[in-house]
Amino acid sequence: SPPRPDPRALLSWYDRRRRDLPWRAAPGERADPYAVWLSEIMLQQTTVEAVKPYFLGFLARWPSVEALAAAPLEEVMKAWAGLGYYARARNLHACAQQVAFERGGVFPREEDDLLSLPGVGPYTAAAVAAIAFDAPCVAVDGNVERVVARLFAIDRPIREAKRELRETAQTLRPAARSGDFTQALMDLGATVCTPRGPRCDLCPFASGCEAARRGETERFPVKAQK
Ligand code: ADE
Repeated sequence: SPPRPDPRALLSWYDRRRRDLPWRAAPGERADPYAVWLSEIMLQQTTVEAVKPYFLGFLARWPSVEALAAAPLEEVMKAWAGLGYYARARNLHACAQQVAFERGGVFPREEDDLLSLPGVGPYTAAAVAAIAFDAPCVAVDGNVERVVARLFAIDRPIREAKRELRETAQTLRPAARSGDFTQALMDLGATVCTPRGPRCDLCPFASGCEAARRGETERFPVKAQK
């Protein structure tokens, strides 16, 4: 059988190369669930660089979920201006109110409970559960789909392989450090396993990657038939 990607290699790469991002806790520390949730909502359709100043601005102005819940929606919408996809801001405020007023200010720890919150879909629920609570989840976004499609040379277009990609990502997850693992996959996709010209020479998974073994990294993920 082909060599498997080794999750420990990814974690040790992350320990050496992780990006220093304002929503990340110091190594070995658990992040504030409010900050994790806020960052993941902002990062849904917006790049890391564009999110940074908004994230810092929101956190400075509304340092807790209670503070954000107490803000007038209009102020939140104004502070969001420029980030786009404004339904996110409306849902952000509704979610803050639900957590602050109906849950005593405490974010749920379970993926399924997180999913019931306004604006929180499968990606965000998995990200918050893993990053804030170290729950055994992997958040699979477009970058992670590409990484997994290459590791296992998944020969179907992403839109037909969503479930397989999610389940395969789960099989890679180590027993501990779920939050670091899920963020390491994101970093790998963003900085090494890029759509064009992936840097396999820098990849901790290179020896376990089926697409790399075949010399076909750029063929994966395969394109959908038009
Ligand atoms: N994109 C979405 N969530 C992210 C995170 N936690 N770190 C880096 N990039 C991300």
